[in-house]
Amino acid sequence: SGRRPFIAGNWKENPDTLEAAIDLAKVVSTASSSASNVDVAVVVPFPFLVPVKETLKGSNVLIGAQDLYTEDKGAYTGATSLPMIKSVGAQWVLCGHSERRALFGDTDETVNAKLKKVLAAGLKAILCIGETKDEYELGVNKLICGLQLAKGLKGVTKEQMENVAIAYEPVWAIGTGLTATPEIAQDVHSNIRAILGEAYGQAVADKVVIQYGGSVTPETVDELMAMPDIDGALVGGASLVGEKFARIINFK
Ligand code: G3H
Repeated sequence: SGRRPFIAGNWKENPDTLEAAIDLAKVVSTASSSASNVDVAVVVPFPFLVPVKETLKGSNVLIGAQDLYTEDKGAYTGATSLPMIKSVGAQWVLCGHSERRALFGDTDETVNAKLKKVLAAGLKAILCIGETKDEYELGVNKLICGLQLAKGLKGVTKEQMENVAIAYEPVWAIGTGLTATPEIAQDVHSNIRAILGEAYGQAVADKVVIQYGGSVTPETVDELMAMPDIDGALVGGASLVGEKFARIINFK
């Protein structure tokens, strides 16, 4: 496809100590040296951005934040701004993860505002989309993903699409062990690319990396990555186990 694979480990609210975070980062750093034809990132909790970045020095592993607040600074207790994230050297920021949508009030509108904030600052964003179990069973997964995609990318220019990756994460597959089959994921991914093609032209759409997320493991990664429109993975649980993530980024 000409697209460079991109695998990111989303640590979510893990691990629970700095020491464990540094240990895990060391394993990723070592494992990445044998994974040459893939971009690798770890997306870590805010307190770990600086020490993990320090630990990864000298490796090619990129670093990302899991969320941001749209105001640059001020009286917003508990919030972390994009300028803060940028100033500590993060390259990627997740926007619209289903857990932020379900548990922390993110809507398509706030996701869009966050995404635009990231892009305006010259950082890269992973826009996460995906249907719930009910929506999947109703057969409206592509419709839901199309809507989330259109709303999430509202106002994003063709040029800015160079800094956007899409993560398709069916909510029913996250943390459940129920990986979507490669065929189901491919079907949604090719639909996502078709929608991007209509919005931005085929040349732009052909360059956008579309990751799959949802119970990606060493056992499932190879067959997922073999599909033409699956360009990478957003890995949760398995990214917390050094040897599993090492195998995943060294997919075959
Ligand atoms: O961001 C990652 C996804 O939510 C997938 O999580 O690999 O634990 O299913 P999981």
